[in-house]
Amino acid sequence: MKKIWIAVSAFIGIVGLNVACAADERMHHEDHHHDMSMMDTRTSLGVSPEMKQHQLSNMRQHVEAITSIVGLMSESKFEEASKIAHSKLGQTPEMQAMCSMFNNEKYKTLGLAFHKSGDDLGAALQTKDVKASLNALNKTMQYCVECHAAYRQ
Ligand code: HEC
Repeated sequence: MKKIWIAVSAFIGIVGLNVACAADERMHHEDHHHDMSMMDTRTSLGVSPEMKQHQLSNMRQHVEAITSIVGLMSESKFEEASKIAHSKLGQTPEMQAMCSMFNNEKYKTLGLAFHKSGDDLGAALQTKDVKASLNALNKTMQYCVECHAAYRQ
């Protein structure tokens, strides 16, 4: 009889321990979630699943364009750099359409100002003036930084 009681209390002990661990884990999990949302204070654009990949691939093209422009500038190929600025960063009908799809006026305004700065960069590169071009490039890149700090998908 005594043996049975020892077995039963050991069993209860183990179950109790498991329940305690599970509760602890759940709390950790909730803490973790809490931390994550506290850390990311950017405004969500509520981008639809279909649009997400489209937007990200567009963004990867933006960073590619910047890289090409810097490389071409270093080889004094201003004409080519200017073309990339206008076609990849400027206010093309495609970019305008893309920015207009978002349901957030401030984001739209920021996006369109960014593309306008892409055209300004194209114009600056056209003058072949390194300093003016770098200045315009810096302005365009400030939009990348500003928008990424404020918004997420
Ligand atoms: C008007 C807003 C806006 C501007 C301007 C902007 N981006 Fe983005 N970008 C976003 C958003 C929103 C995301 C998604 C971020 C998230 O959900 O964490 C993003 C994501 C990205 C990513 C990640 C892509 C991936 O595959 O994960 C890259 C790279 C990027 N942007 C590059 C750029 C560069 C370079 C510029 C400037 C030349 C730029 N972006 C300008 C809004 C912007």
